[in-house]
Amino acid sequence: MDMRKWEILGIIGVVAVLLVLPAAVWGYQGYREAQEGPGMGARPDSIGAPKGDPVSGYLVYDNKCSACHGKDAEGSAAAPDIRNMVIGAQFVYAWILDPLSVTSAATMPKVPLTEREAADVTAFVMGYRDGTAPAIVAAAQKAASPATAAPAVQSAPGASGGNAAKGKAVFTSKTCSACHGQNGHGTAAAPGVVGVSGAAVQKQVRTPSGKMPAYGTNQISDTDMADLIAFLETLK
Ligand code: HEC
Ligand code: HEC
Repeated sequence: MDMRKWEILGIIGVVAVLLVLPAAVWGYQGYREAQEGPGMGARPDSIGAPKGDPVSGYLVYDNKCSACHGKDAEGSAAAPDIRNMVIGAQFVYAWILDPLSVTSAATMPKVPLTEREAADVTAFVMGYRDGTAPAIVAAAQKAASPATAAPAVQSAPGASGGNAAKGKAVFTSKTCSACHGQNGHGTAAAPGVVGVSGAAVQKQVRTPSGKMPAYGTNQISDTDMADLIAFLETLK
């Protein structure tokens, strides 16, 4: 080989390294973000996740998360075990407020939560990592009073006059479909809702039995409720 060939090979080599190196760094950052949340690399947990009260957080967990993640965060067919996560509090906080903002591949729905509830439930979930959660569960069960205010049931059943097409959108956007299935036939997390009466739907949504989150009129207006019921009546 003459010198010219070596020169050309050398240039190709340098170009290849210049192309591959940034891709590798970028890929590693993507990996870190998937593990720890966007741009949150090596920062301590305390940054970015507001301090929450783990005891209140248990009540949020029990009401809004346990149907999927299990009574003691042990996981179910619908969702993973979240007791031994390697990810930090700020990831959990960002994740539960809006999973799709963390990764477009999320299948966990955006659960209706205030920022306070998100901070509290994050504090509770992180207690599994440092071993304090079992005591919190015991304390919270003791503290759980029947007075945890449930929104008042509206007397008007509202079954008539609803718009089923709009109701379908409510069923999806309020994450009913995540638990009950797109066609209301049920999933591992929740039973089917086909053939349930309008009054029973209203009662369950406002003051749920079992492990279903409650939705007040600030989340599902009476008009949305009528639409939702009209949609559920179309299901077979
Ligand atoms: C409808 C079922 C469902 C509900 C309700 C739900 N989750 Fe999830 N969750 C999932 C699924 C499924 C995943 C797995 C990631 C994915 O595919 O989106 C997940 C993942 C997670 C993760 C990330 C686990 C990891 O190792 O990366 C955390 C943390 C979490 N959920 C916490 C919660 C909390 C707290 C609540 C209640 C506010 C909640 N989830 C409600 C289904 C659910
Ligand atoms: C986090 C999961 C979850 C979400 C989200 C959810 N549900 Fe449920 N739902 C359940 C579970 C679990 C039950 C069973 C309750 C029980 O055991 O008493 C249930 C029960 C019901 C029932 C009673 C079924 C029957 O046979 O009597 C209706 C109706 C219902 N849900 C409607 C809805 C609607 C409408 C929405 C959205 C506004 C919704 N659910 C959101 C988990 C969920």
